[in-house]
Amino acid sequence: MLLSNPVFSTALAPMQDVTGLPFMKIISGYGDPDLYFTEYFRVYEGSRLNPEILSSITCNPSSRPIFAQILGESVAEIIRVCKLLQVHSIEGVDLNMGCPAPRVFKKNVGGGLLKDPAKIKQILLAMKSVIQGRLTVKMRVGFEDDSNFFEILEILKEVEVDLLSLHTRTVLGGYRSIPDHSYVTQAVNFLSCPVLLNGNVTSAQVALKLQKETGAAGIMIGRSAIRNPWIFRQIRDLQEGQDIFRPRMIDLYEYVSLLLEALKKPDMNDVRLVARIKKFLNFVGLSVSSDGEFLHFMRRAQTSKDLFAVCKRFMLDDGLSETFVSLEPFDHLVARPSQETCSS
Ligand SMILES: Cc1cc2nc3c(=O)[nH]c(=O)nc-3n(C[C@H](O)[C@H](O)[C@H](O)COP(=O)(O)O)c2cc1C
Repeated sequence: MLLSNPVFSTALAPMQDVTGLPFMKIISGYGDPDLYFTEYFRVYEGSRLNPEILSSITCNPSSRPIFAQILGESVAEIIRVCKLLQVHSIEGVDLNMGCPAPRVFKKNVGGGLLKDPAKIKQILLAMKSVIQGRLTVKMRVGFEDDSNFFEILEILKEVEVDLLSLHTRTVLGGYRSIPDHSYVTQAVNFLSCPVLLNGNVTSAQVALKLQKETGAAGIMIGRSAIRNPWIFRQIRDLQEGQDIFRPRMIDLYEYVSLLLEALKKPDMNDVRLVARIKKFLNFVGLSVSSDGEFLHFMRRAQTSKDLFAVCKRFMLDDGLSETFVSLEPFDHLVARPSQETCSS
C-alpha cells in the first residue's frame, strides 16, 4: 500500500537545488516524511539522467518510497526517460505540471502543460504504458485560472493515475497568491486515487487542520520543511496525540551547521557555498528574528565565516540558544522571490 499511515501521510515537496541527496539525508535524520519526490529530471531530446539528482534515488538513506519527477513535453523522449528511470529503485514516476518559471512554462512544460489537456492525456497514457511502478502527477489548479481543472481531473481518472499532489494555486499565482484548498476537496471527491494537499502548509497544526477540512490523503510540504526540518516528526507527534517536539535555537544552529557540511563539494569555492546555503537560510530566517534582522545580515554575509558569525549572533549569543524557535514563520517577512521558484 502506498500510503500506509493510518492517519494521513506526509511528503517532502520536490524543490530544485534544494531537495537533493544532502537535504534528504538531513531531513531523514530529523524525521522522514512518508514519501519523497526527487527534483525534476529535465526531459528533452537526448537528455541523460542528471547524476546528482539520480544519487537522491540510488544513495537515499531512507527506507521510504521515492518518486522520480520528470519535466518535459515530448512523448517519445518521456517514454525513453521513463525507461531509463525504470531500472532504479523508485516507487514511480511523477509528472511536473506546476513549475511557474516563465522560462519553463513558455516551452509548454511544467505549468505550461495545464493549458493543453489533450497533450496531458497523450503524455500520461504514454507514461502509463511504460512505467512498471506508480504514475503520479504534481500540478497546480490551472494556468491563469481553473477553467481546465475538471477536464484535467477527468483525464487523471481515465488514465488511472495513482496519486495527485495538488498545489492549490494557479501557475500565474506563483508562490505568493493565497492558496485555495477547496480544490483539494473537489479533487478528493472526484478522483479515486489519493490526493496530497500542497501550498503554504506552515506547521504540524496547520497540516492536521487542512487534512481534516479537505479530506486529503496526505500533506506535501516544501518551504516549511526547509525552515523547520522537524516538521514531519512534529506531524507524527500530533497524530499520535503527543506533545510536539519544539526545537530551540541551538537545534537550529546545529541544523545550519549540518547543511553547510552537507552542501560542501570538493570543487566548490566559498562564494558558491555561501550562495547555496543562503538559498536555505532565506527560508530558515523566516522564523529566526521577527524584525527581519537575521535575514538582513545573513543576505549581506560574503563568506561562510561571516555567515556563521551571523547565525551565532542570532541563534546562540546572549542566552538565545535555549529560546524556542517559532513554529510558524513570521508573517510579515518574505523569502526572496528568486528563491521561490523552480528555474532552468
Ligand atoms: C526552491 C523551489 C524549488 C522548487 N522546485 C520544484 C520542482 O523541481 N518540482 C516541482 O514540482 N515543484 C517545485 N517547487 C514547488 C514545490 O514543490 C511546492 O509545490 C511549492 O513550494 C508549494 O509548497 P510549499 O508552500 O509547501 O512550499 C519548488 C519550490 C521551491 C520553493
